[in-house]
Amino acid sequence: MYLCGMAEDLTIIKGNKTEQYQSLIPQVKGLLDGETDLVANLANLAAALKEQFGWLWVGFYIVKNNELVVGPFQGPVACTRIKKGKGVCGTSWAEARTIIVPDVEKFPGHIACSSLSKSEIVVPIIRNAEVVAVLDVDSEEPDRFDLTDQHYLEEIVNLIQF
Ligand code: SME
Repeated sequence: MYLCGMAEDLTIIKGNKTEQYQSLIPQVKGLLDGETDLVANLANLAAALKEQFGWLWVGFYIVKNNELVVGPFQGPVACTRIKKGKGVCGTSWAEARTIIVPDVEKFPGHIACSSLSKSEIVVPIIRNAEVVAVLDVDSEEPDRFDLTDQHYLEEIVNLIQF
């Protein structure tokens, strides 16, 4: 058997959030290093985040023809297209900033792809001053995301070559 040497090598640790990100980030760098195919990189990144954190949904929406179109993700089937300014993803795109939603029911215009989702964080991916995609993460737990997630997820998306 030939092992491609990627998924098998991902080390998943227990520990606090910071320890989990600090363990994952060098491994993510290894996954992305030397590979320029965007779909391949986004797919492996979504899988690595899902494996470490076990979130309900983690993946990417990519800006195409002035809409967000779902890209590589892990989790239940999701909405395919989101318009600028709509939902948490479209708002993060329009405002070019990370949005943390502790309770999705309290976010006006939240788009529910899964009724299981209780909290969410969306991180824009900005290149040449334009949002080119967003990273969206959903959790079944309320109030799951904080400034630690924002800090590390922003660092992680900056590793992606667009
Ligand atoms: N909740 C998002 C839609 C995407 S799904 O959660 C995967 C939103 O309000 O933009």
